[in-house]
Amino acid sequence: MNINVLVLGSGGREHALAWKISQSADLGRLYCLPGNPGTASIATNLSGSVMDFHGIRAAVLEHGIDMVVVGPEDPLVEGLRDYFEEDPLLKNILFIGPDRLGASLEGSKDFAKKFMVKYGIPTAAYQSFTADQYDSALGFLKTLQPPYVLKADGLAAGKGVLIVDSPDEAAASLKEMFSGKFADAGKTVVIEEFLSGIEASAFVLTDGKDYMMLPQAKDYKRIGDGDEGLNTGGMGSVSPVPFYDEKFAEKVEERIVKPTVYGIAREGYRYSGFIFIGLMNCGGDPYVIEYNVRMGDPETESVMARIDSNFLSHLVAAARGDISSQQIKVSSGTALTLVAVSGGYPESYTKGHPIGGLEDVDGAVVFHAGTACSPEGAVITNGGRVLALTVLGDGIEDARAKAYPQLEKIFYKDMGYRRDIGCDLLKYIK
Ligand code: AMP
Ligand code: GLY
Repeated sequence: MNINVLVLGSGGREHALAWKISQSADLGRLYCLPGNPGTASIATNLSGSVMDFHGIRAAVLEHGIDMVVVGPEDPLVEGLRDYFEEDPLLKNILFIGPDRLGASLEGSKDFAKKFMVKYGIPTAAYQSFTADQYDSALGFLKTLQPPYVLKADGLAAGKGVLIVDSPDEAAASLKEMFSGKFADAGKTVVIEEFLSGIEASAFVLTDGKDYMMLPQAKDYKRIGDGDEGLNTGGMGSVSPVPFYDEKFAEKVEERIVKPTVYGIAREGYRYSGFIFIGLMNCGGDPYVIEYNVRMGDPETESVMARIDSNFLSHLVAAARGDISSQQIKVSSGTALTLVAVSGGYPESYTKGHPIGGLEDVDGAVVFHAGTACSPEGAVITNGGRVLALTVLGDGIEDARAKAYPQLEKIFYKDMGYRRDIGCDLLKYIK
């Protein structure tokens, strides 16, 4: 087919998407914008920003791009798909990602909650409030049991969710949110019931009316072992998830995925792309914590490692509205991803340290996240999350035994990583 593909973004997620796409016989040329030193080994990196729509347009036209795959949510929430559809020269380009309205499922928590209620999708009970409704918000908090969950409505770089234990803390946090802690994102606050259980994520590829389930995954958000310390973008991931058994998977599809895709079609969103559903398993029943309209990072690294079928062909079918023609093939192995970070992350850290040992890694794939090339051509650190190393093993223990010795071959100043990725899941293995 010789399809020319442009992947937008520059993280480990985009490297993993590009890596899987690069294995397809249907691929023509592969580009990343802006990409990173890792994607440079499998694609042509184009300079630019994912938020510069005119720049993306110029790149698409100059390089004869047939399909655009959008990695992060921001350009989607800002309407990149709508921009393509309104342009006579771009409107026929295949596009992976929803329109602006569809992207509101991630861009506005209040919008997502209303959608879930409308389509009968299980989620925590909630109410939304604006700053002028402070007193009613306090009244609603009084009806809930602690802990209290407060969410800024808009995108807040993963930091907009507060979980607090006492009513006084909840009232104080609410006041802070209304007085601009998360800028415009916190103008509306969603207050919801606390769900207790264990989290996992479902990944769906949809053409807007039908869908394909991608492998599920679990990620590790806290910086420290044993889920201690500050929240991060994600320190590791595992797929499959042992407690996500056939019975649970069926509940997720029947109660959540089907009504979600039905709702998307019914609302008329133009949506060919990924739905990443954050789930809480509450005593065997799945509840939606959040929707994202993109893949997760570092979940994508593990998810891609398990896909054995022609992923590019699945993407093309989704973009053409023909996903039902496709059959995914998933490896029965266990994918495990370890994220190496800069010392100090998720707070302040330094950049520019040379990374050594990459060429010694064997039996693992190293995805680049926050790296750059020095003027001398060396790979250096350039972000909080630096690298994501992925292996495919025979179960979690085998995957851990394969992954850690490979990660230990890599070195840079103040490198950090979690030692316990996957350990919490061992108790669920039957
Ligand atoms: P979100 O940004 O909505 O994914 O929320 C961030 C994290 O907060 C989630 O991954 C959960 O760990 C937690 N969380 C969000 N909503 C709830 C809830 N209703 N009950 C319990 N934990 C929650
Ligand atoms: N790993 C969580 C996310 O990508 O949002």
